[in-house]
Amino acid sequence: MYASFKSIGAYVPKKTLTNSDLEKIVDTTDEWITKRTGIKNRHIADDNEFTSDMALEASKIAIERAGINKNDIDGIIVATITPDNFCMPSTACVLADKLGIYNVMAFDVSAACSGFVYILNIAKSLIESGANKNILIVGAEKLSSIIDYEDRSTCVIFGDGAGAAIIGTTEDKSKSILDVHISSDGRYGDLLITPGGGSARPCSVDMLKSRAQYLKMSGNETFKIAVKTLSEDVINILAKNKLNANAVDHFIPHQANLRIIEAVRSKLNFPKEKTVLTIEKYGNTSAASIPMALNDAYEKGNIKKGELMLFDTFGGGFTWGSALVYFG
Ligand code: ACO
Repeated sequence: MYASFKSIGAYVPKKTLTNSDLEKIVDTTDEWITKRTGIKNRHIADDNEFTSDMALEASKIAIERAGINKNDIDGIIVATITPDNFCMPSTACVLADKLGIYNVMAFDVSAACSGFVYILNIAKSLIESGANKNILIVGAEKLSSIIDYEDRSTCVIFGDGAGAAIIGTTEDKSKSILDVHISSDGRYGDLLITPGGGSARPCSVDMLKSRAQYLKMSGNETFKIAVKTLSEDVINILAKNKLNANAVDHFIPHQANLRIIEAVRSKLNFPKEKTVLTIEKYGNTSAASIPMALNDAYEKGNIKKGELMLFDTFGGGFTWGSALVYFG
């Protein structure tokens, strides 16, 4: 029995934050943001719209498209760095309640932008071990809740949203999740960090005054390591599976920076038409970015059953990963 990627769904909040909006908030320009990142717009959740609410909308679509009953789901895994609640309950438990699914395995995974590929790997392993039959995996982020809108180096990059998928079973290898690779290097933890609010620096007036609750990123150093690591990871997963880039129908990278995507794409010699790009309209939505991009391509009619997708991702930790997945 193999694990199979059965369906995709996504949710994008209505409110938008354009480059010209940001020009009014921080010292930046549309020209700088477009040239350095490829981003023109992002979507921002309402104050009363939480990560679990976005996850719920994406999940409903994925469940319906998979053609299963919600009670067939025996596991819910949410990848997020912006859970509804600090510590507990997990956003996966909140989501399970909002979906009306009870007595089910439910937990969150924190792997920053690599979260979706991490939970894809966990779901694949659980299904192939025979422990589970249908797992709902969700990447969902309300990054606007941890972004410092006084810090021009980060606030122009991130947006909110959610993407969900059903991972089920198949006996047909050509409809399976072929391979997933995930990894990390904690020595780089300080380059992308929310320093305040955890047990190392609990919430206090001083902590809040120093704005340590917000995401801090050493962008330039992160950029260089991301390009090198992603290129190597993608080359390795293709080689391990004895495939070349021509075998891949859709390259669906984490949407962090258009220049990172272009650098990896050109190293692999991937044609532009095979590369799914949503960074211009959504920005970087961390764990939600790959499923949101996949959903976008799916809704445009570009992704067909049996086609081979290649995911790649890199994020805080540092964490990274890649996956070869037949759209089941
Ligand atoms: N508008 C105008 N100028 C700016 C802005 C802005 N919004 N932000 C920074 N600058 C300035 C800097 O102050 C600096 O000015 P200086 O030369 O006078 O000091 C100059 O622009 C260059 O800054 P860099 O940080 O070197 O710019 P860079 O070209 O590296 O682009 C960026 C920054 C877009 C953040 C890029 O480094 C990047 O994308 N990094 C990787 C991000 C990533 O992949 N993160 C991992 C995933 S995220 C996650 O896991 C949550």
